[in-house]
Amino acid sequence: MLKDEWVTAETSPSLALVKYWGKQQRAARNIPATGSVAVGLSDLSTLTYLRPLPADEGDRIQLGGRLQNPERFAPVLRALQEFVRKQGGSPPPAVEVNSENSFPTAAGLASSSSGLAALVLAYLHASRIPYTLRDAAKLARIGSGSASRSVFGGFTILPAGSEAAEPLFDKDHWPELRILILVMQSGPKRVSSRDAMELARETSPYYPAWCADSLQQVAQGRDALGRRLLPELGAVMRRSYLRMFATMFSADPPVIYWLPESVAAIHACASLREHGYDAWETMDAGAQVKVLTTEEQVGRVRSGLTEAVPGALIYTSRPAGPPLVNGTPVAPRGEE
Ligand code: ADE
Repeated sequence: MLKDEWVTAETSPSLALVKYWGKQQRAARNIPATGSVAVGLSDLSTLTYLRPLPADEGDRIQLGGRLQNPERFAPVLRALQEFVRKQGGSPPPAVEVNSENSFPTAAGLASSSSGLAALVLAYLHASRIPYTLRDAAKLARIGSGSASRSVFGGFTILPAGSEAAEPLFDKDHWPELRILILVMQSGPKRVSSRDAMELARETSPYYPAWCADSLQQVAQGRDALGRRLLPELGAVMRRSYLRMFATMFSADPPVIYWLPESVAAIHACASLREHGYDAWETMDAGAQVKVLTTEEQVGRVRSGLTEAVPGALIYTSRPAGPPLVNGTPVAPRGEE
């Protein structure tokens, strides 16, 4: 790694259409108990700058101009150091990282997926060692399960029990797909996804059923995505997020991320569908609602949602391309 040389990585958050929710209790970190099928969001991005630092300074990680507790990043940085050594490189004793998200952080918009993927890609690139995108996806998973998917962009799968996500299709598989992201609440959530996931696993009587059922949702979601059948995919998406939330509502204590505006958006989607529009919603650990529709219908769906939730900030996104490292797309199939 060359001192004083900044590397940049730009990534997009990965929206799970079929949800990852729960970790396997194995020695390795963040091995998912349920598989996920996801799409990268082109209009939301993380931009990360990274450079090596001398040993005595320790890691300096800033997010949105704010210094972060390096403890949160210690496992992934340790794994990156080990990997670089294994590949015959010499890892820097510490790194300086400045990262910015173009969208609210820790608000249920998957900022840790794009954030950790950008960190891993920038670090690997700066280390000048050979690596594949599968290596990057394994390492990113250590920081955040869904970051494994953000390493690829496009459409991805992270199978249950797997160490790394895999690319399914690139962004051109479904160019007319549009994803509306309704932000009801932009502040950080009170309960982190990580804590909510653990609480659901430890205390919800429905958690084992959630995991067992998810296998079927992943298979059906993957099939509908492959055939670009939006109503079929939408039905799977709705089963997946609503069953995921059932484990949160039934946890002890319960976790309730939903706001009245979230419920209003869910009903607005139902009403749009009754009128013949494709408006298929999903939610994550947070109050925000994401809606899949088509290029042709996006105007009408967006106005229906604005009417139902006048205060919401709405992003319109397409499927994202691969991440950029120093401005160049990373190879989509890990064949570097
Ligand atoms: N978590 C959320 N956003 C992040 C970012 N941009 N970098 C690192 N971690 C993050």
